[in-house]
Amino acid sequence: MVEKRNQLNHLAIIMDGNGRWATKQGKPRVAGHYEGMNNVERITLAADQLGIKVLSLYAFSTENWARPKEEVAYLMNLPVRFFDHFMPTLMENNVKVNIMGYLDELPHKTYDVVQRAMAETAQNTGLILNFAFNYGSRREITTAVKEIGTLIETGQLTSDQITEELISDRLMTAGFKEFRDPDLLIRTSGEQRISNFMLWQLAYSELAFSSKNWPDFTKEDLQEFVSDFQNRHRRFGKLDETDS
Ligand code: FPP
Repeated sequence: MVEKRNQLNHLAIIMDGNGRWATKQGKPRVAGHYEGMNNVERITLAADQLGIKVLSLYAFSTENWARPKEEVAYLMNLPVRFFDHFMPTLMENNVKVNIMGYLDELPHKTYDVVQRAMAETAQNTGLILNFAFNYGSRREITTAVKEIGTLIETGQLTSDQITEELISDRLMTAGFKEFRDPDLLIRTSGEQRISNFMLWQLAYSELAFSSKNWPDFTKEDLQEFVSDFQNRHRRFGKLDETDS
């Protein structure tokens, strides 16, 4: 019997370990974020070549505001540098940019640049490069629940009409349609936590952890994780035909 290989449509990555990478090199933490940004470019192109449809990258969480002011300012400027440099390559490769998060809380310059990146790539039909930026999953779910509450209060919905589909439709990933839930989540740097990232969407995702820090995570590493994923046995809570 030929084993069916899993299709990897949506890959999510928690890009962790930039600070440790920099410290190991005797450099300031922000040097790790800079190298991390360069790696986003390499891994995006590799993901595209692997036929992935959506690549979700956790770039800034709602909790990251608590970092030192200078580091936050550096991180807020990364999208500016990234899109300045990488936009021609994104266009050449038909990549569509999406930024999910509480964008109206971003500094003006960051807000403008991410809106522009989304607008400029809106007609592209290839890989969706989805940055989570000022994103937190509990807050995302809370917002969805509040919206549903309002629909009930205003008589547009009854509580027995609340379904999983209805909740998924109100999350920031709704636009990715059948690819809205990641098939695989990779976290780098050896930490094994979800850290408030896509809690609802990850319900049936496969999880994988790399001991490498994000700037050191290569295209070859990605290929290995994808190949391992393709051979995993996914059951989505069900039994197989062969189980009795
Ligand atoms: C976690 O490493 C990483 C971040 C908080 C920032 C991730 C951002 C990038 C990789 C660049 C994003 C690029 C764009 C275009 C927005 P850490 O600082 O927590 O590392 P540590 O755990 O070793 O301290």
